[in-house]
Amino acid sequence: MTLRIDVLTLFPEAVGQYATTSVLGRARERGVFELHLHDFRDATDDPHRTVDDTPFGGGAGMVLRAEPIIRTIEETPGLCRPVIALSPSGRTFDHDVARELSGLDGFTLLCGRYEGFDQRALDLAVDDEVSIGDFVLAGGELAALCVIEAVVRLLPGALGNDESSVEESFGDGLLEYPHYTKPASVRGLDVPEILRSGDHARIARWRRAQALARTIERRPDLIARRGGLSAQDAAILAEFAAPVDPRENG
Ligand code: ADE
Repeated sequence: MTLRIDVLTLFPEAVGQYATTSVLGRARERGVFELHLHDFRDATDDPHRTVDDTPFGGGAGMVLRAEPIIRTIEETPGLCRPVIALSPSGRTFDHDVARELSGLDGFTLLCGRYEGFDQRALDLAVDDEVSIGDFVLAGGELAALCVIEAVVRLLPGALGNDESSVEESFGDGLLEYPHYTKPASVRGLDVPEILRSGDHARIARWRRAQALARTIERRPDLIARRGGLSAQDAAILAEFAAPVDPRENG
């Protein structure tokens, strides 16, 4: 099944350009998802094609007009709901939301610019608002691309055989363990000996210990979300008592 993503934006070329590269480009070619881009400036009805105006009540900046957005959503054949506006005021996007969206037939992303959307566009035509973090971008396009890439790479067939979205950060609520490739020594830093031991069960336990230790150090909130450490986690950590950072190996 092909996931349908529609994007409403004032910069369709910018979104389309990125979506032809790398993982997204290949996934589109394979029919994993289809991308429909809409410039809501095309739904304006004045000679200047005006998409923004000054805020009622005064204040700095411009506000995106409601009507071109609502009209584009109403008049696009086959557009899928939910319609999700990208906005720093939205709920925070994370791996769980990505998984949620990857299970749908499709969804629509609305990219803002300027100070934001006329609230009536949100009230009348938008189902959800999502933020990619507690910072403010100049527009929703980069946020939309983050959402698209995070969702698409979870879809079957999106990644090549040697890529995987299963064993990676957040897959099981932990950060990922560190990776090493050849050569075995880089500027005096050696790959941990255990990874060259051939003892695959022990390597798996070591990786798990590294993932746990990293998560405890960098993202204790994720450990709390899992309900703390299980007895098994504690045992694996104790087995290695692993330093988190390989630079600490000495
Ligand atoms: N638009 C501007 N800033 C944003 C953010 N942090 N997340 C989503 N959309 C945005």
